[in-house]
Amino acid sequence: MIIAVDGPTASGKGTIAKALAAHFGLPHLDTGLLYRAVGRQVQLAGGNPDDAHLALAACDFPDSLLDDDILRSEEVGGYASRVSVHPAVRRALYERQRAFALQEGGAVLDGRDIGTVIAPEALVKLFVTASVTERARRRWLEMTGRGITVDLEVIEADIAARDERDTNRADAPLRAAPGAALLDTTTLGRDEAIAAAIAEVAAHIA
Ligand code: C5P
Repeated sequence: MIIAVDGPTASGKGTIAKALAAHFGLPHLDTGLLYRAVGRQVQLAGGNPDDAHLALAACDFPDSLLDDDILRSEEVGGYASRVSVHPAVRRALYERQRAFALQEGGAVLDGRDIGTVIAPEALVKLFVTASVTERARRRWLEMTGRGITVDLEVIEADIAARDERDTNRADAPLRAAPGAALLDTTTLGRDEAIAAAIAEVAAHIA
């Protein structure tokens, strides 16, 4: 069984995907991490993420980079969003994601284009959203909790810019796949959102 979980940044899709994987005993891939690793590799080289050639060369990142906590930073997230615009980068990362989706027994993948491009045949497709204000609040709480001082307005502007880029790029824009179940987590707590996602998957299995 393939479960595709798509949605914008800080919508709760990662938490939901991880919980679904644990509940249904499936391996999980956070595909955003791959784009973050490419972005980080460009950053390490001091390059411009808008340069398609540099971004493509960075797709050759070492696997050890995926374990680096710095990938979770807002700054690397911004680089990831910029390198992910290039079709050549998306093509370079396609096979790895596709192979993960097709492994025996199935898998849970979360990202932006899992239900539309990577695994359109997924048995269950979820599109997880929440308001920009709520997503900014969550990200702010998470960062403040980690001891990072940051303005809520700055986070909100950054999230809005990222949404704009992800939604309006020509190649694999952020969209709900046909047949995807919409899960708006704006007013849901963590456990409620997870329970709603599990119920959605269970309904498909039944
Ligand atoms: O999900 P996360 O915030 O970690 O993703 C970082 C960036 O990588 C996103 O803003 C998006 O531009 C890009 N991305 C993508 N396709 C995916 C996953 C992430 O374009 N499947």
